[in-house]
Amino acid sequence: MSQMIRTSLDALSDLLSAVGMTRPLYVCSRRWTSRLPDCAPVFSHFEPNPDFDQCAAGVSMFQRKGCDGLVAIGGGSAMDTAKGIKAMLLSTSFPAALLGQYPGSHAYPLICVPTTAGSGSEATQTAVLYVDGQKHSLSHPMLLAQGVILDPSLLSTLPADMKRSCALDALCQAIESFWSKAATTESQMIAGPAMQVIFHWFLPYLQGDRQAAEQMLHASYAAGEAIQMTRTTAAHAMSYQITKQLGIPHGDACALTLPYLWMRLTRDPAFIKPGSMLASRMGVSFNDAPLLFLGLCLDTGLYPPRCADPELLDYLTDSVNIERLGNHPQPLTREDIRALYIQALNPAPEEMAEKALALWRHHAE
Ligand SMILES: [Fe+2]
Repeated sequence: MSQMIRTSLDALSDLLSAVGMTRPLYVCSRRWTSRLPDCAPVFSHFEPNPDFDQCAAGVSMFQRKGCDGLVAIGGGSAMDTAKGIKAMLLSTSFPAALLGQYPGSHAYPLICVPTTAGSGSEATQTAVLYVDGQKHSLSHPMLLAQGVILDPSLLSTLPADMKRSCALDALCQAIESFWSKAATTESQMIAGPAMQVIFHWFLPYLQGDRQAAEQMLHASYAAGEAIQMTRTTAAHAMSYQITKQLGIPHGDACALTLPYLWMRLTRDPAFIKPGSMLASRMGVSFNDAPLLFLGLCLDTGLYPPRCADPELLDYLTDSVNIERLGNHPQPLTREDIRALYIQALNPAPEEMAEKALALWRHHAE
């Protein structure tokens, strides 16, 4: 199903009419209320990495205020919360909502307005929500937004560390989609250019460049479209408990493991074709591509937390969703995953870090 896309928040009332919504529930933080109509119902009781049960309060407000659709304004957490509310509205019970059983005949239209260039949730039918500390992905065609507003001016007030983390999320999504076992020529035609744009505009975006914000917003939307087609791979699967246990933002958590997963892939003959295509888009050699990624992370201040606690490493290892790893282009054993966590959560060897930084700085000149 195609989405209606606008490029300015000023077009919201037009988009509301286009999707047939007259009384939206706005799912957003309070900071956006000055941009909304007076007395508009606002649900803001959600947190980063939202819990599914937080959505129940949103359902109550939706019904109490007589709403007929949802407008999510924010990052992945706001958009995924809105999708969680919609899932509950469409289903008959909490477990049915989790299982994607949506017999409801009401469509409850959804409009997504991303205020970060990152999750790509505006382009997907998936919501990542937590239940009792465990990650659940809700995925259903009815959770895809009917309308999207990609307005780069909304990104201007984001703090630099959030910009970086969200952009790293989009970058990992584009790369993981590209090398996913489920990748097709069509999905790679979306993921490849998205990755290239994010690499190219990463630093100007962090420095506040307006054109870079526009480019990043569209590229992260494209990365969302790409993972909608392929789903993500090991970097995402390994990220969720890094975020939960160590409080590291989602995009940063994905970017900590991705270069080491990539280095392992370069030793696999089956990776030569996709790896060469990715490296060529980045303008570096096959073996240097993961180092360039690592250099970007180091240069923009993403440092590993230093984690040597064997119990935590075991917990992280055992928490990885094996099903999600089935999409990764290389088999990984439990020992592989544990070794990857040790690498990702501790400083890179000095020689590797120096080479990575030199590559990235040369690339960014
Ligand atoms: Fe992500």
